[in-house]
Amino acid sequence: MSSNKIQKICCIGAGYVGGPTMSVIADKCPDLEIRVVDINKERIDAWNDSDLNKLPIYEPGLDRIISRTRGRNLFFSSEMEKSISDADMVFISVNTPTKTKGLGAGQASDLSWVEASARQVAKYAKGHTIVIEKSTLPVRTAQAIKEILNTANREDQKNQISKTFSVLSNPEFLAEGTAINDLEKPDRVLIGGEDLEAVNALVNVYMNWVPRNQIICTNLWSSELSKLAANAFLAQRISSINSISAFCEATGADVKEVAKAIGTDKRIGNQFLRAGPGFGGSCFKKDILNLVYLSGYFGLPEVAKYWNQVVVINTWQQDRIYKIVLEKLFGTVNGKNIAILGFSFKANTNDTRESPAIRICSELLEEGAVLSIYDPKVSSERIEEDLEKFSFNNQCIWKMANSIPEALKNVDAVLILTAWDEFFGLDWNYLASLMRSPAWVFDTRSVVNRQEIENTGLNLWKLGEGD
Ligand code: NAD
Ligand code: UGA
Repeated sequence: MSSNKIQKICCIGAGYVGGPTMSVIADKCPDLEIRVVDINKERIDAWNDSDLNKLPIYEPGLDRIISRTRGRNLFFSSEMEKSISDADMVFISVNTPTKTKGLGAGQASDLSWVEASARQVAKYAKGHTIVIEKSTLPVRTAQAIKEILNTANREDQKNQISKTFSVLSNPEFLAEGTAINDLEKPDRVLIGGEDLEAVNALVNVYMNWVPRNQIICTNLWSSELSKLAANAFLAQRISSINSISAFCEATGADVKEVAKAIGTDKRIGNQFLRAGPGFGGSCFKKDILNLVYLSGYFGLPEVAKYWNQVVVINTWQQDRIYKIVLEKLFGTVNGKNIAILGFSFKANTNDTRESPAIRICSELLEEGAVLSIYDPKVSSERIEEDLEKFSFNNQCIWKMANSIPEALKNVDAVLILTAWDEFFGLDWNYLASLMRSPAWVFDTRSVVNRQEIENTGLNLWKLGEGD
């Protein structure tokens, strides 16, 4: 197939990656027709909702792109068979969570959804189809996908139906909350594959808006491994600075000053050095654990141990925070009211997957605290699922607040867990008057100004500074 012939794209998986990625491709390539399909009908209906506030994910700038592409060259649908059979190129962008049972449980990726997608492609594809791994996958998954596709090919040949496939790896590096900017101006696009014609076809799609010198082409295995390695390196930086945050609290150093001092060294760089309550999000933990599992699988136990420590420090950081809250509140939070500001795993997203808030709130609830939780974008239904263990006969020992003052009314402490814009520059004089006395502010994201808080008579503990 000539690389110029790509006309129709299908993306399997309308999630945090499939939705925004295909929206941007549709926006930048008006001549391509793109269909995003999903087994989750409710999700597809939400993507098609005329009220753009009801899109299934919140991502700044996404609504504007959807409003100009949806129905023009971007379609969300549950029609799997036709969308795949019409497509020249199929992206697999489905979930790859950590296995919860069986061999490798707790570390290895569960590839059920990827395998099911490959089988769907094998069944419905027609002619030549370029199949692209967009999901983050263990190294050498492309081999398994090729085998599934080739089996279908052999069966169809018996029935004299001709179908052929090329498999490429094209991992996604977007971060939630900045997905549109990351997709429109990526640091790089990575394409792994051996079939040059297929690689060029995908390069040509991206060249509609990404300069050629930012499109890196590698072999399949380098591409698959680079995605896992990139997430491991990013998460490692967070665990490194978080370990230093504890050191700062113990010694009187200030983690922000240390981060600035080390980050100005160009070799270290100043990004990803914000200490916080530990990394959350659906991917860092699962991808490192996957790397740990693969290291063991390939006979590299020291490598496995090295990367596992990044996750160990992350969990320790979350536990450390809840224990500090406990200690400052005279060793008990039983029956005490605590406000939680921010439940998503970071600002500008409604995603709570692996959010540090889940573990920290659970520990506090376990200790008997009564929580009032405020987050600008996370729904109460979502929090209910995340804290399911703490609902008894539909009675929760936490409540959702609709505003910051509502959350802080009569509390003994407020714990800031996400750096949403609206948490900066609050009127702490007013907020202090709503709280019980003596009350504490625990700031894990360096949101508040020490002087301002202390002027109100509130006690303050800041991560990486102490009190
Ligand atoms: P997600 O759970 O939001 O979306 C996956 C979607 O795939 C779901 O809607 C699910 O219903 C659908 N699906 C599963 N099996 C299907 C099938 N057989 N047919 C049709 N639809 C199917 O996941 P996500 O966050 O979009 O992540 C997808 C992949 O991208 C993962 O491998 C993840 O590691 C990777 N990734 C995620 C991010 C991120 O920021 N979320 C960034 C880069 C890479
Ligand atoms: C991360 C990577 O940044 C993306 O490149 C990658 O594509 C994606 O994972 C993925 O594979 O899913 P994401 O998890 O959406 O993106 O968001 P990040 O901005 O990386 O933040 C992850 C977590 O680290 C958040 O909890 C955030 O608060 C925390 N973080 C980040 C810090 O605590 N300090 C920092 O300096 C940066």
